[in-house]
Amino acid sequence: MRISHHIRLTASLLIILMISGLKVSFAQSIIPLETKNNAMVLQIGDDKVLRTIYNGPKLRNAKEYAIVQGVQRPDTDYTGQLSSAYTPSGSRNLFEPAISLTHSDGNPSLELKYISHTVEKVDADVSLIKINLKDPKYTLELTLFYKVYVKHDVVEQWTKIVNGEAGDVVLHKYASANLYLEGNAFFLNQFHGDWAKEMQSEETKITHGIKTLDSKLGTRANLFQPPIFMVSIDKPAGEDEGTVLFGGLEWSGNFRTDLELDNQDNLKIISGINNYASDYTLSKGKEFTTPKFLFTLSTKGKGQASRNLHDWARNYKLLDGHGNRLTLLNNWESTYFDFNEQKLNGLIKNTKALGVDLFLLDDGWFANKYPRNGDVAGLGDWEENKEKLPNGISSLVKTAKENQVKFGIWIEPEMVNPKSRLYEQHPDWVIKQPKREEYYFRNQLVLDLTNAKVQDFVFGVVDSLFIKNPGLAYIKWDCNAVIYNAFSQTLADQSHFYVDYVQGLYNVLERIRKKYPTVPMMLCSGGGGRVDYAALQYFTEYWPSDNTDPLERIFMQWQYSYFYPALASANHVTDWGKQPLKFRTDVAMMGKLGFDIVVAGLNEKDLAFAKQAVINYNRVKDIIFNGDQYRLANPLEGSVASMAYISKDGEKGVIFNYLVNNRYGSRSRASIPIKGLDPTAKYVINETNIYPGTISKIVSSREYSGDFLMKVGFNPDLDQSRTSVIVEIRRIN
Ligand code: DGJ
Repeated sequence: MRISHHIRLTASLLIILMISGLKVSFAQSIIPLETKNNAMVLQIGDDKVLRTIYNGPKLRNAKEYAIVQGVQRPDTDYTGQLSSAYTPSGSRNLFEPAISLTHSDGNPSLELKYISHTVEKVDADVSLIKINLKDPKYTLELTLFYKVYVKHDVVEQWTKIVNGEAGDVVLHKYASANLYLEGNAFFLNQFHGDWAKEMQSEETKITHGIKTLDSKLGTRANLFQPPIFMVSIDKPAGEDEGTVLFGGLEWSGNFRTDLELDNQDNLKIISGINNYASDYTLSKGKEFTTPKFLFTLSTKGKGQASRNLHDWARNYKLLDGHGNRLTLLNNWESTYFDFNEQKLNGLIKNTKALGVDLFLLDDGWFANKYPRNGDVAGLGDWEENKEKLPNGISSLVKTAKENQVKFGIWIEPEMVNPKSRLYEQHPDWVIKQPKREEYYFRNQLVLDLTNAKVQDFVFGVVDSLFIKNPGLAYIKWDCNAVIYNAFSQTLADQSHFYVDYVQGLYNVLERIRKKYPTVPMMLCSGGGGRVDYAALQYFTEYWPSDNTDPLERIFMQWQYSYFYPALASANHVTDWGKQPLKFRTDVAMMGKLGFDIVVAGLNEKDLAFAKQAVINYNRVKDIIFNGDQYRLANPLEGSVASMAYISKDGEKGVIFNYLVNNRYGSRSRASIPIKGLDPTAKYVINETNIYPGTISKIVSSREYSGDFLMKVGFNPDLDQSRTSVIVEIRRIN
């Protein structure tokens, strides 16, 4: 990133400043935040207000950013704040603010003026720009942070608010980011859902006024709406064309994103923690740092934006972003709560027979006074149920070892059933309003993670499992309930509750990762309830949905794929849906493969297929995990879904194709152009994961040029007798 050219400093002076990270606080008006292809340019006005003057493709000559506004001829700005880089409230602003507060003397207005900024090189590819602002009449200071990932075209933005006043400052709104986009029209692609219906996509033209995306659920906060969205500029972006911004808040609790189309037809995007019921008091000398908001801008459509985020996530965010992921056999749907040691020993043997890496023991293994034989009791009592497991978890870990497979376990440590010893012993650890009836979500309540003792307890659940069972290789961390009756019995300031809950959760996860940095953990949350890039710093994978009907999963995994790389998506083959085992397995292979079926109940051909599929998966998984993803045919737009992963070196690829329409005569009529190939190279294509006894229609001896495959394409020959086809593509020269 060559910020040095653009901040009106001599090159040599700037180099000194960049190396030393010194403050740059003298006359300069333009602060360009440039990535490989884009620039977000801020300008310090003569009135010292920091404004966004440009957000788009990078200009060749950075000096020309200064004249952008002159050619755009905006209408009168009655506020002087429309394009503010962080909009304050209570003085001249008339639109949605990024920050709103009451000063220690009761004054509810805020003005923010530029003081200084620094540019720090974090590594060869990442820079951190810090811009200091201050209220001219108060000792209230604010720092805007912009972390710029040049190669990935990704920016993370967040804010620190420091109370230098003599008394308390109350924050009423404290957003992470405030973007300002110019364009002729804007189109919002947002997501909504519910249990088993996660990640439903909607796209609408943004009209004047404010559109708010938010959550007030407290925990499992994404159940109805995740904190990710896309905004296309001028026209809805396609997969390979159009300008589109992908954004998302890195926060696992209540969030709020306001998209406001103003009187000049420009779009303000303000995103942060939801300020609903969350006034935050900063006492004298204290500071508050918001979570990060991330965005990437692509002028080449949604496909490029996704690849930007996938690379960024693997390199910088997702835990073990380039590591392996374990294939597994889970017992949830094959046993539910009905199992004992003998049955599990049998399943561990099946794990080995199937050829997967790990056996995952799900819910139901714990609690004695109120045994966990259903979802109505026992949650919170994390000791092995003596009837089901007389020899404890350690005996199962031992059996797994003897069978050369690993062992993993399910927990839901933030939650409690009222029918539990934990609830009886620590009623004050439970989130509930003192004078209200208790409301349950899946018969359970949420533990109060704002309380340090509860944090110790939750950490202890994980820690003691590892201390007692050093061979434990995997954790599935569930989180099924939302927060009703939000109230902590120990917190001094209840309006800090929602924020402190999430920070309490992160404290626990930090402690776990400090002690157990690499053990893989699945972020489950009843499916989709908690998928965000803050949580994914602690987890290796997420559970997209309890809905594992493969037809549904094609659509859901497609939507998740806009934001999250495939290796983070835990996909299990189950008995949901009407599709044959091959179809179910193929869909689950588009990510991290697992099984949750009765292996002993498979017929001979199904078992042979499943075992071979695991072998095939192990051969191609590196391409799925680390390659570039191309969405080739959108199931929402036709009868066919097609998704390709191409290795970074361009040598190999794997393409998943499905017929998603059951109507008479439906098939893959047109060929599907492949993307990401070298037009000058030659390729061969062969089908894999072929069900025993069926014959592939793909001619594997034919050679194709990359040019042909990208322009004309390839037909997987899907029809009612071939509803799922995986092909491998290989470069031969
Ligand atoms: C919800 C999860 O999403 C399921 O996979 C399973 O673990 C159950 N909870 C167990 O109660």
